[in-house]
Amino acid sequence: MSLPKLTPTYHKDTYPSISSTNPSLTQAGKTILITGGGGGLGFEIARSFAKASASRIIVVGRRAGFLDEALVNLRKEFQGNTTEFIAHQADIASDASITSLWEFLHSQNILVHVLVLNAAHFYPYAPDTLSMNKKDLMEAFDINLGGNFLMSVNFDKQTLRPTGLKLHLVNISTAGVHMHPSPNQNPYAHFEGCIYGVIGKDCR
Ligand SMILES: NC(=O)c1ccc[n+]([C@@H]2O[C@H](COP(=O)([O-])OP(=O)(O)OC[C@H]3O[C@@H](n4cnc5c(N)ncnc54)[C@H](OP(=O)(O)O)[C@@H]3O)[C@@H](O)[C@H]2O)c1
Repeated sequence: MSLPKLTPTYHKDTYPSISSTNPSLTQAGKTILITGGGGGLGFEIARSFAKASASRIIVVGRRAGFLDEALVNLRKEFQGNTTEFIAHQADIASDASITSLWEFLHSQNILVHVLVLNAAHFYPYAPDTLSMNKKDLMEAFDINLGGNFLMSVNFDKQTLRPTGLKLHLVNISTAGVHMHPSPNQNPYAHFEGCIYGVIGKDCR
């Protein structure tokens, strides 16, 4: 397993031109929705958008208690900041749950300007794709590809979106999609990259 050199420099920390406190990158006036925003990288992404003064940050995940805890921590850290934090329970593997999430946003008159596709399904690890069973494969497929696809469709087609308004979609992927061979990560590495192929050409 090896990672090809994709860029001359690998950064391990932020730097001024991409810093969330760089005034030219302010997110004031913007609503950000982060799937899997209750923990891990998603929570750090929420913190970064709060530092960039986003007006509203919505964290989405399956565990309500986990999201509530994240909300408490965000509100505490950004006390006095104008950012409004919202938690919403949803499972991106479920079409009905995604529909209900976007209906909720619409009912609240919320237009999402930035969608961060961060939630991911990592398991099971199999030595190779042909050792997996179909159920496990489809579970990964439903989240990493199907869920991200349907979230993107709903984001793009928001009825509150004024004609011509540019939206921003951030897909959190993994360097694993570029690794070949990539043992033990099959459904994850396969589908995390696929979403680019599905929506990439059509993003506007
Ligand atoms: N950590 C790394 O070293 C690393 C490296 C490269 C890339 N990444 C990428 O970074 C992203 C986040 O990774 P992480 O390590 O922070 O993962 P994590 O800690 O496991 O967080 C994943 C989040 O997604 C949520 N989630 C999972 N399935 C969901 C579903 N069906 N519907 C809604 N939410 C769901 C989980 O919350 P619930 O369980 O409550 O739903 C959880 O909050 C992934 O896209 C991953 O590919 C991570």
